Amino acid sequence: MFVRSDPTARDAALTPAIDTVREHTSLEPQIALILGSGLGALADAATDTTVVDGPEIPGYPASTVSGHHGRLVFGRLEDTPVVFVQGRVHLYEGYPVQTLTMPVRLVHALGAERMVVTNSAGGINRTFHPGTLMFITGHLNMAFAAPGVGSDRTPRPTGGDGGGRRHRPYYDAAWTDRAEDVARALDVDVRRGVYAWTLGPSYETKAEVEALERLGADAVGMSTVPEVLQAQELGMDVVGLSTITNPAAGLADGALDHDEVLEVGAQVRGPLTTLVRGVVRVAEDG
Ligand code: HPA
Repeated sequence: MFVRSDPTARDAALTPAIDTVREHTSLEPQIALILGSGLGALADAATDTTVVDGPEIPGYPASTVSGHHGRLVFGRLEDTPVVFVQGRVHLYEGYPVQTLTMPVRLVHALGAERMVVTNSAGGINRTFHPGTLMFITGHLNMAFAAPGVGSDRTPRPTGGDGGGRRHRPYYDAAWTDRAEDVARALDVDVRRGVYAWTLGPSYETKAEVEALERLGADAVGMSTVPEVLQAQELGMDVVGLSTITNPAAGLADGALDHDEVLEVGAQVRGPLTTLVRGVVRVAEDG
């Protein structure tokens, strides 16, 4: 997992990927939207789309979970040029974090200065239910991995919630506030909370969920934090949005399964699409 990237190959490594995308589209996306499991259909809301398949893009990580390969969907949403990243890869698929965050570096290199990251998550907060939407206001990195580890890109500790000289907070509070206002105006119910990232692929134990609850987590999942860490390193503004698909393991009767996660994802498609459109509309200040 501790992979040292070749310091001379950093940006040059993206060049073949950028060139491949540019053979398909000259669109410069302003916002990248990372779509979580069961949420891929959000890209259907875009117009004037061009699809670039992951396997065509040199260095693009191949998804092994969903049965679908990853792909980039370029288009317009609310008249804003955007790119959807469909079929993300997870740390539990065995990739180094630096590999699974390559799509974020790529979309940033293609123009995206902002990112909306979505996921499906288990609810820890007892007031959450399947279908609850949650703005991520902070995270717990319980996978203890980061794309900056061993990378020449982050030669010393940086980041942190307070921002700091070269880095900004992980989740853009002002954009999230505007998104919350727009959600209210659109009559979409959204909560706020802390997301805990775990390695997976097994769902958590009851003891782990209880421990995460004491640590202050409202939701738990196996994604998102690597992309957010990468985006922060690149100076991107981020809004994070979880769909609670199930009570976290041990908080309800019965076993959890991936199909349940996908099913709830499909059920919230309407309000989530409305909300994501609103988030894109209020991306710019003012
Ligand atoms: N745990 C971890 N990841 C998840 C869950 C969960 O309960 N639900 C959806 N993704």
